Amino acid sequence: METMTASASSSSCAVADRPDGRLDSRLDAPSPTTLEAAPATAPDVPPEALLVFDLPPRAARIRLLREADNRALEWQGGADLRAFYDEQWRLHRAGDICVLIADLNDFPIGQAAIHWRGKPTHPHLPDLQSLRVFPAFQGMGIGSRLIEATEQSVAARGFSQVSLAVGVENPRARVLYERLGFYAIGQPYDDEWQYTDAQGRQCRVVERVVDLVKTL
Ligand SMILES: CC(C)(COP(=O)(O)OP(=O)(O)OC[C@H]1O[C@@H](n2cnc3c(N)ncnc32)[C@H](O)[C@@H]1OP(=O)(O)O)[C@@H](O)C(=O)NCCC(=O)NCCS
Repeated sequence: METMTASASSSSCAVADRPDGRLDSRLDAPSPTTLEAAPATAPDVPPEALLVFDLPPRAARIRLLREADNRALEWQGGADLRAFYDEQWRLHRAGDICVLIADLNDFPIGQAAIHWRGKPTHPHLPDLQSLRVFPAFQGMGIGSRLIEATEQSVAARGFSQVSLAVGVENPRARVLYERLGFYAIGQPYDDEWQYTDAQGRQCRVVERVVDLVKTL
């Protein structure tokens, strides 16, 4: 795990004015005069960090969706996607889809949903949807692992191909998929999905996408 930076919650807190982050002994018995005289930000405190420390390495794992994940997954979309996650759970339990979770410390930091019945244009191919990784963990290989686990699950069911759709305005994600062996089939089209938001309103999302396929 890389070095992580903790930032100050209050700019007037006078702790950790040593570069190694340990408390200065002057703080053991501060006199009111000393505190009042101290500037809000001591000149030798780096403005971007009060403490800098390494985190212990932790193994992440890919597992199946659990009901307890539903609320935790609201880091994407908030309560407006609650009905979406509840429906995702229902479909997962019914076996219509298979949702894989990237788990760190029992928290779902990523997800991928395999829809066994694919797109209308290729219903015979399982389709990978709703792939996402918690922003703070993007670019660390987790999305690639979710795709790898997806491919294993799909192959274990006897399929030799898997598809996914990527937004034409999401070239970074497309680069990842092509690097992993996906290639475009067909022309861009408007993909549409709907959800019911926290106020009970029906919301319609339209995104221009292109379908990609990978032969396993
Ligand atoms: C796309 C996404 C699932 C990839 O997961 P990840 O764990 O970040 O990806 P990995 O670490 O395995 O691979 C890194 C590659 O992913 C792509 N990527 C990284 N961050 C991304 C982002 N915010 N948006 C889109 N693609 C991204 C890049 O191609 C990157 O390669 P690079 O580092 O050489 O530029 C993840 O970044 C994400 O959730 N993005 C926002 C939502 C999204 O775009 N979902 C895909 C819908 S089709």
